[in-house]
Amino acid sequence: MRRERAKASAPGKVILWGEHFVVYGSTAVVTAIDCRVDVVCSLIGEGVSIRSGRAVCSKRGGVVRCSSSSAWRTLHPLMGLVEAMLSELGGADGVEVVISSDMPRGAGLGSSAAVSAATAKALSTLLGHELSPSDVKRWAMRAEQEIHGRPSGIDPHITTVGGTLTYRRPDTWEGIELPSSLRLLVIDTGERRSTGKLVEKVSRFAAENRTIFEELKAFYDELVKEALDTLKTLDLKRMGELMRLNQLLLRAVGVSTEDIERAVEVLQRSGAYGAKLTGAGGGGCVIAVAEDDELEKICERTSRAFPRVWVARCSEPGVRVEEE
Ligand code: MEV
Repeated sequence: MRRERAKASAPGKVILWGEHFVVYGSTAVVTAIDCRVDVVCSLIGEGVSIRSGRAVCSKRGGVVRCSSSSAWRTLHPLMGLVEAMLSELGGADGVEVVISSDMPRGAGLGSSAAVSAATAKALSTLLGHELSPSDVKRWAMRAEQEIHGRPSGIDPHITTVGGTLTYRRPDTWEGIELPSSLRLLVIDTGERRSTGKLVEKVSRFAAENRTIFEELKAFYDELVKEALDTLKTLDLKRMGELMRLNQLLLRAVGVSTEDIERAVEVLQRSGAYGAKLTGAGGGGCVIAVAEDDELEKICERTSRAFPRVWVARCSEPGVRVEEE
C-alpha cells in the first residue's frame, strides 16, 4: 500500500581485512557497525527534492538546482537513483528525500552505500513495494558505480544485509556468526578522500608493479585464511597482529597516509593489539582491536591526539524500515 511518508535506516561498515584486494578477487571480511543513516521519503506535488543537512538539490521540469557545487557532487548520484526508481516503480509524481546521518562522509565507513540503500528501502516502501535484499543491493550498487567508478560491491552488500561476513566479488558471501559480541575502536583522522581515486591509484600500482602486486595479493590471501580462524574464537590478540600485517600491505600499495600511520601508532602504543586503515584509505578512518574492558581507556588515551575516536559495536542489522 502506498504511504504519504516512509522512513528507513542503514548501517555503516568497517572492513576488518581486505579492502582494495577485494577489487582484485580476494576475500574481504566486513562488519556492519552501529552508525546509521536515516532517510525519510515523502510524497510532494512534483519533481524530486533531496536534502542532507544544509545541502539541498531539487529537480523540477528538467531543471536541477543545488545549494552549492559540493551539494551537487554529493547528491546528484542519489537524484539519478530516485528518478530511476520512480520511473521503474511508478506511483508518485514527486518525492522529497531527507537524509540524516551520524556517520562521517568520505571516511571509509560506507556512508554513500548506506544512504543509497536506505533511500531505496524508504522510497520503495513509500510507493507500496517490498524490495528483496538483492533488489535493494542492486539499486545501491547502481548509485555506487556512479560515485566510485569500479566498486567491488562490498559496501552495498554489507549495508543491505548487515552482520559480519566474508565477501568476494562479484557476489559471493558467507555470514559469520561471532561467538560473542565484538566492539572495535574507530579513529576518524579527519582527512577526506575519494574512493574512486584511491581504487584507481591501486590499479596504477598493480599495472606498474605486476609481479610485486601478485606477491602482495598472495600474501593477503594467506593472511585472510588465518584471520577467518581468529574470528571463530575471537582471538583478539591474533586479530590485531593480522590487522598490523594487513596495514603493511595497504601501505605498500600506496593508500596509507602520515595521519593514518600516526593513528595506527597512537592506538597500538595506547594498548590496542593492532590497527589498520579501513575502507579506501588516503585518510578516513582507522580501526583497532583490543580487550573489551580496555576499549574506553584506550579511547581516553588517544583522544588527545585524535579527538574523533569512539567505540563501535559490530554485526549490526542491515537496512530496515523504521516505523515512526
Ligand atoms: C571501499 O569500502 C573498499 C574498496 O575496496 C573499494 C571496493 O571494494 O569497492 C577500497
